[in-house]
Amino acid sequence: MYAFFAHLHSAASLLSLAATLAWGWAAMNHSAGAGMTGRRKGLYVAAMATTGFAGLTGLAITFAGPWSQMLFPYVGVAAVAGHGMAGKAVKGALMRGGRGITAFGVSLQAAILLAAAGIMATKPF
Ligand code: HEM
Repeated sequence: MYAFFAHLHSAASLLSLAATLAWGWAAMNHSAGAGMTGRRKGLYVAAMATTGFAGLTGLAITFAGPWSQMLFPYVGVAAVAGHGMAGKAVKGALMRGGRGITAFGVSLQAAILLAAAGIMATKPF
């Protein structure tokens, strides 16, 4: 059971990275114009949902496995929250018709996920 959820967590984290990169690309794609287009909406939901799923499976293996005394799983909670807040800010900017913080926000989302994955794979604390 543990191994199943651990694999699910790895797969979810990869999907989350892929969906977030695709959303970032769609948000930055100037030729698609301003606003939350259909494609952006779909990829926004995909990025948020897959990251949420990575968080849920992460919490499951934290308490099913020997990790709850370590710090890195709680970095994951912060990562999911930070990814969500940055994503909401980008969506808000696009809906207001501007691009404002788009480049910064989507880069931050990708950086947060990469940092979380690195910390989790190496478990330094
Ligand atoms: C609430 C959020 C999260 C919690 C509690 C959590 C918890 C964990 C735990 C306990 C492990 C160790 C599992 C093992 O090595 O058997 C792990 C591994 C891992 N996590 Fe997370 N995680 C969370 C979110 C994320 C996110 C957002 C990402 C990246 C998008 C991520 C990527 C990874 C990766 C790449 C591994 C290593 C898998 C492996 O070595 O096979 N996690 N996580």
